[in-house]
Amino acid sequence: SFLEMEVEQINKGKYEHYMQKEIHEQSESLTTTMRGRLKHGGSTKAKTVLLGGLKDHIRTIRRSRRILFIGCGTSYNAALAARPIIEELSGVPVTMEIASDLVDRQGPIYREDTAVFVSQSGETADTLLALEYALENGALCVGITNTVGSAIARNTHCGIHINAGCEIGVASTKAYTSQIAVMAMLALAIGDDAISSQARREAIIDGLFDLPNKVREVLKLDQEMKDLAKLLISEQSLLVFGRGYNFATALEGALKVKEVSLMHSEGMLAGEMKHGPLALVDENLPIIVIATRDACFSKQQSVIQQLHARKGRLIVVCSKGDAAAVCPGGFSTCRVIEVPQVEDCLQPVVNIIPLQLLAYHLTVLRGYNVDQPRNLAKSVTTQ
Ligand code: G6P
Repeated sequence: SFLEMEVEQINKGKYEHYMQKEIHEQSESLTTTMRGRLKHGGSTKAKTVLLGGLKDHIRTIRRSRRILFIGCGTSYNAALAARPIIEELSGVPVTMEIASDLVDRQGPIYREDTAVFVSQSGETADTLLALEYALENGALCVGITNTVGSAIARNTHCGIHINAGCEIGVASTKAYTSQIAVMAMLALAIGDDAISSQARREAIIDGLFDLPNKVREVLKLDQEMKDLAKLLISEQSLLVFGRGYNFATALEGALKVKEVSLMHSEGMLAGEMKHGPLALVDENLPIIVIATRDACFSKQQSVIQQLHARKGRLIVVCSKGDAAAVCPGGFSTCRVIEVPQVEDCLQPVVNIIPLQLLAYHLTVLRGYNVDQPRNLAKSVTTQ
C-alpha cells in the first residue's frame, strides 16, 4: 500500500545513513521518475514521452523566446546539467538563474519567457521569491519539484513531479538524478515535433530506459570510492574539473564534498582552467577531472595533459575501457575511475554517483554528521 511505501522510505533499512540509502536507491528512484512517461512506440509509432502536467502548455513552451531555469544549490546544478540538451532539442535560448541573484538584480523577464523553477522541497524561500517575481512579469511558470502540494507546485502554471520518493538526507542525491531525468524528458517533449532530431530523441529514450541498469552498475564503485576517500581523508582541498554536459557534475560533486565532508572543494569549468585555476596546481592538490566520452573528450584529454605537465595529482573519471586513453604518464601518476557510458546528455546522471559515494565516505571517515551537516538545513524557508 501507499502507506507501507512511505514508511519503507523513512526507514533506513540495511543502511547506516539516509544519504547512503538514497545514493544506493537511485536505480529504483529513476525507475519511478520515468514510470508511465516513456512510450516504447511500436512498429509504426515513434517513441515519445508523455508529461501529463505539461500537456496544455507544451506548445507555448516550444514557442517561447527564452527558457529560464531558476533554482538554488543542487536543484540549480541539475538544471545546468540539462541545459545543453534543452537547447539542442528546443532551439530556444536557455539561461540559468540562481534564484536569489535573479531577485537581487531584478533581471528582466517577459511574457514570452518560460521560467522553470526547480526545487526538491518546493518550499525554498529564494526560489519562491523568484517565482513571485516571474509571475508578476507575466512569464509562463513551470515547476519541477519532488513534493506534491508544495508552494512551488501550487503556484506555478503547470509542472512535473519528479517522483523520486521522500529524500531525508540534507545533501540531495536521488532528487538530483531524478531532476536531470525529468529535464531530459522535458527536452524530448519540447522537441517532439521536429523530424530532424527524431533519431536523436529515440536514442535518448532508449538511454533513459536503460539508465537504471547503468546506475546499478556504477554503484558497484562503492568500495573503490571508499578507498579513494581513505587517501583523501586529510586533504585541505579538492578541485573538480568538468565541461559541456559535465560542468554541472563538477559543480555538484564539489558541492557534495563541501556540504557533508566539510572539506573545501570547488567545481570548475575545464575551459577556464588556464584563466586562473592552473596557478593552484602542484604535486599536493588532488584534482578530479571528468573525462567521459562525448564531443568534448579530446579537449578534456588535453586538460589532463596540461595538469599532468604541472605534476597535478590526478583522479580521472572516464568511460569504461578508456583508462589508458586518459592517463598520460601511466597509472602511477593518475588514478582512474571507470564508469559505464550512456547517451551523452544522460552521462551526468551516471557520473555524479561516484562523487556522491566519495563525499559520503569522506564524511563518515572524517567523523562528521552525514545526514545533517553543520549549519545546513534540508529546506531553507527563510531568506
Ligand atoms: C538547501 C539544501 C540543498 C538544496 C537547496 C535547494 O540549501 O541544503 O541541499 O539543494 O536547499 O533546495 P530545493 O528544495 O529548492 O531543491
